[in-house]
Amino acid sequence: MQNIVVTGGCGFIGSHFIAALDPNKFHVIVIDNFSNSSPEILERLQQISLIKIDIFDIDITDQASLSKVFKRFNVDSVVHFAGLKSVEESHKNPDKYYYNNVAGTLNILSLMKQYNIKSFVFSSSATVYGNSSIQPVSEEMAMVATNPYGSTKIMVEQILKDFQKANDSVCTISLRYFNPIGAHISGKMGENPLGKPNNLMPIIMGAASGRVKALTIFGNDYNTIDGTGVRDYIHVMDLAEAHLAALSFSEGNTGNFFFNIGTGKPTSVLQLIASFEKVTGVNVPYEIKPRRIGDVDTSFADTKKVEQMLGWKASRDIMTMCADAWRWECSGLKF
Ligand code: WQD
Repeated sequence: MQNIVVTGGCGFIGSHFIAALDPNKFHVIVIDNFSNSSPEILERLQQISLIKIDIFDIDITDQASLSKVFKRFNVDSVVHFAGLKSVEESHKNPDKYYYNNVAGTLNILSLMKQYNIKSFVFSSSATVYGNSSIQPVSEEMAMVATNPYGSTKIMVEQILKDFQKANDSVCTISLRYFNPIGAHISGKMGENPLGKPNNLMPIIMGAASGRVKALTIFGNDYNTIDGTGVRDYIHVMDLAEAHLAALSFSEGNTGNFFFNIGTGKPTSVLQLIASFEKVTGVNVPYEIKPRRIGDVDTSFADTKKVEQMLGWKASRDIMTMCADAWRWECSGLKF
């Protein structure tokens, strides 16, 4: 049985990753400060999976408390989801983002060294590519910070490169997420941001369910197929399974690696709305307003590297993402 520390394990991506783990192979130790999640997710996970989970209400900047957890369990690997992730908020509180996302990760790495833990999978982001005119983006392209949130991801990737060079028996893997949406097929868990969401899918859900009057589409004058922003939306369970592939790769390899995790398929805001309406039969009221500062026209992934090295490829399409997201929205189970 492998002991795996999952930081941010009660969050959107972390909880879906735990749901995808083999309960016969893993015992999960969750470290979460519940700043954007709820401990109630444990009960939902236990309805979905037999996996054994221990949860600790700890902030990753609290080195002393973190240390007690690592001392108690013989940890084999770490999957590190915990982090602040709002681009908008990172402009207002850059110091909070650098402290939490960078210093918090350094705390985890120092414990990895202390307890000789060999495998580390990190939640990075397509934001590291900034506003690239070359699309799709591939891992060879330069990382360009366009906001403090993106800077924290670039800094951690640089730290991992140097950390692994100095600790060459370790395997560090950064997964650069594109746009995760959707929910677990059971409808028992899904995207559940505490407070006002910034990202598109939860707001589409709000407009479709009548919780909000209408979706605001930020700009229809981009240089794209229909003028609205284009992204690479990936089902959260595909993303979760990419982490499984990274974990098994780390068991047999050392080195520092980084991969784009997307579908490689570009979808505009209007195309996503049309797919949602087609699959659910529900109308999404929207209004067009000017562009949101910091948004890029287009961002979608070249996925050749992860397919070749990890043998992973996304399998769920946009219609499935919309259907699964709507099932969760209608479940009445949101926290
Ligand atoms: C997608 C598209 C918007 C909201 C994401 C995460 C961010 C960070 C980076 C992970 C864009 C449009 C959105 C709305 C809209 N996280 N939009 N109306 O911008 O790719 O950022 O990746 O690393 O936290 O959000 O995703 O969902 O915010 O926007 O028209 O109310 O939807 O302009 O074209 P984005 P998003």
